[in-house]
Amino acid sequence: MEIKPFEKKVYLASPYMHGEEQMYVKEAFDKNWITTAGENINEWERMVAEKTGVSYAIGLSSGTASLHMACKLAGLKLYGQPEVGKGALCGKRVFCTDMTFDATVNPIVYEGGIPIFIDTEYDTWNMDPVALEKAFEIYPDVKLIMLAHLYGTPCKMDEIRAIAERHGAIIIEDAAESFGATYKGKQTGSFGEYGCLSANGNKIITASTGGFLLTDSFEDCEKVKKWSTQAREAAPWYQHEELGYNYRMSNIVAGIGRGQMLHLDEHIAMKKAIYERYKEGFKDLPVKLNPYEEGVAEPNYWLSCMLIDKEAMGRQVRSEKEALFIRESGKTTPTEILETLSEYNADGRPIWKPMHMQPIYRLNAFITKEGNGRARTNAYIEGGCVDVGMDIFERGLCLPSDINMTADQQDIIIEIIKGCFR
Ligand SMILES: Cc1ncc(COP(=O)(O)O)c(C=O)c1O
Repeated sequence: MEIKPFEKKVYLASPYMHGEEQMYVKEAFDKNWITTAGENINEWERMVAEKTGVSYAIGLSSGTASLHMACKLAGLKLYGQPEVGKGALCGKRVFCTDMTFDATVNPIVYEGGIPIFIDTEYDTWNMDPVALEKAFEIYPDVKLIMLAHLYGTPCKMDEIRAIAERHGAIIIEDAAESFGATYKGKQTGSFGEYGCLSANGNKIITASTGGFLLTDSFEDCEKVKKWSTQAREAAPWYQHEELGYNYRMSNIVAGIGRGQMLHLDEHIAMKKAIYERYKEGFKDLPVKLNPYEEGVAEPNYWLSCMLIDKEAMGRQVRSEKEALFIRESGKTTPTEILETLSEYNADGRPIWKPMHMQPIYRLNAFITKEGNGRARTNAYIEGGCVDVGMDIFERGLCLPSDINMTADQQDIIIEIIKGCFR
């Protein structure tokens, strides 16, 4: 059968609207609540708090803003009020997920902190508890852990929490990709001192942009509400004692999110069906899908990803900005698959390039389960990679996981990918 390119692009993950979104946006227009306050914000906040089981969910302009506010709160709690102009984490080391989007990490640096990257494990593609324990041996004074639940798959929370408790450290959870995912029945974002969600255009539900800071502390909730609206004091004029930000969510954006929220579980079910279809479709290929701890964690299946078995991995080199590969029968590479998908008008992505491999963070410490790791360039090391994050980056890729994609389209994607192994 000859496969033709898709007429309409098949996306990685695009918005899926239902109708209620527009109704709530219209309501905001009708009532002229075109600002950073209003019923849509209040209601979406209430729904998110209820879903995640936390006491307070504060609507902000983005997931990154929520991570920034979480870093500021954590810094204040751990190290006290900084001087004006200095970040709350000034000069402090923070243990951080290595294989993630840089938005997980940058807010630590906004607050003056120093990210120390913790290698990844193969069971969930998240922070490796063994490497985390090693990191505490090397840096026993660290008091803050920033972890991300990658691609919607929960981290090994029991292990990580036990280590954090033993060392008197607190956790910020970047649950930007994992809204609705659970670990032992509890929602991601509700384990740490602070949780962060994102509603940007490619997330499981979207409001075009937006995010939430999750906390059980009333004082912290009040602080974030104040900081995110320019830190005004209660006074008849504009009175300021602290640094402020313009980070509050818009009531128009919240209208979209409030409508989407009604369909979160439905979106998760659709994403799960995509994951299962890939699993079945690839059962005879030398690949694995992004794994999770079955019976312990239930991901939200935000992105389906695959990892090519080592024996079936063709030759590929990546410089900082380009990739080359050699076609070999029976083998393939992420680069070949991504280029082939693109020829057919479908959108895949490389795995997040680990932070210890990024030029901006290459001088930061990187800890593997063996202890001190080394920052690596992009050269694939023959016979296997030296750290897990680099290995998954080299052999893995994100598959089209759009809930607008039809089953027939997905079957064609599966055939295209199978073709890369011939
Ligand atoms: C893991 C992770 N953290 C943080 C963010 C930042 O969220 P936002 O785009 O809403 O700022 C994203 C998504 O963009 C993400 O995937």
